[in-house]
Amino acid sequence: MSTYENILVEQRGAVTLVTLNRPQALNALNSAVLGELIDAFAAFQADDSQRCAVLTGSGEKAFAAGADIKEMVDKPSVDFFLDDHFSGWQSDLVSRTRKPWIAAVNGFALGGGCELAMMADFIIAADTAKFGQPEIKLGVAPGMGGSQRLTRAVGKAKAMDMCLTGRMMDAEEAERSGLVSRVVPLDGLMEEAMKAAEAIAGMPAMAAMVNKEMVDKAFETTLEQGLLLERRLFQILTATEDKVEGMKAFVEKREANWKGR
Ligand code: CAA
Repeated sequence: MSTYENILVEQRGAVTLVTLNRPQALNALNSAVLGELIDAFAAFQADDSQRCAVLTGSGEKAFAAGADIKEMVDKPSVDFFLDDHFSGWQSDLVSRTRKPWIAAVNGFALGGGCELAMMADFIIAADTAKFGQPEIKLGVAPGMGGSQRLTRAVGKAKAMDMCLTGRMMDAEEAERSGLVSRVVPLDGLMEEAMKAAEAIAGMPAMAAMVNKEMVDKAFETTLEQGLLLERRLFQILTATEDKVEGMKAFVEKREANWKGR
């Protein structure tokens, strides 16, 4: 257990569990949370014993109810520009971590909360989860990726509907729309998320990173470039010890003994 003030970090075997821990503010995301998350993700990335992470919110009510409105209410506009407000969330250490991580959404994921969940490789939601981009109701618009990642995840019709009306989407609609990969009862959420993370943590590490990179690139390249990248990365993986071991183990009908290289 670490000594952060706004998040809890715990290593469970090869899985790092990070919990947003400001339940009195529905885990609203202020600059202190961002600083601690960047630090925790850097430690996760650097620790070879850690293979997958899960991010969730404390309490049963919220994953995160957005960027901290109280931190923004009196901030002068020029300062938002000068400190490039929200840019830290797009840093390599949160949205572009090379190792896989899962968001376990346990309640409200609104504004920055929805945007943070969408930075994960996939979202597992409790049946009580609610997603939304309600920034328009505050006179603004998404600032941590909502207009871009939500549109890529659910398409223009749903994304426009969510951003322009500010309405919430429940877990069932979120699964139907492709925003989340699984929905489970709230009391089984952490078990499901940890099980998925442990399964990923048990995979050959380089293959896990490459699979993640390939899927992410699908949103940023033409089909032709993406297919070429996929073939090249596949070919590179054939040079790993784990490729030799994985294929041998299959042929010899035994469990593979991964080396992580
Ligand atoms: N920022 C700061 N504090 C927040 C917060 C936020 N985003 N969301 C909730 N809180 C605080 C409330 O102020 C309240 O604190 P106090 O007890 O000190 O008043 C506490 O959390 C509990 O919240 P509520 O009393 O409002 O709880 P509720 O059950 O009545 O309502 C809710 C729950 C519908 C989620 C409501 O809290 C809400 O609408 N929150 C704001 C959601 C929102 O607009 N998010 C977008 C923020 S802007 C953004 O995220 C920009 C971006 O793109 C990055």
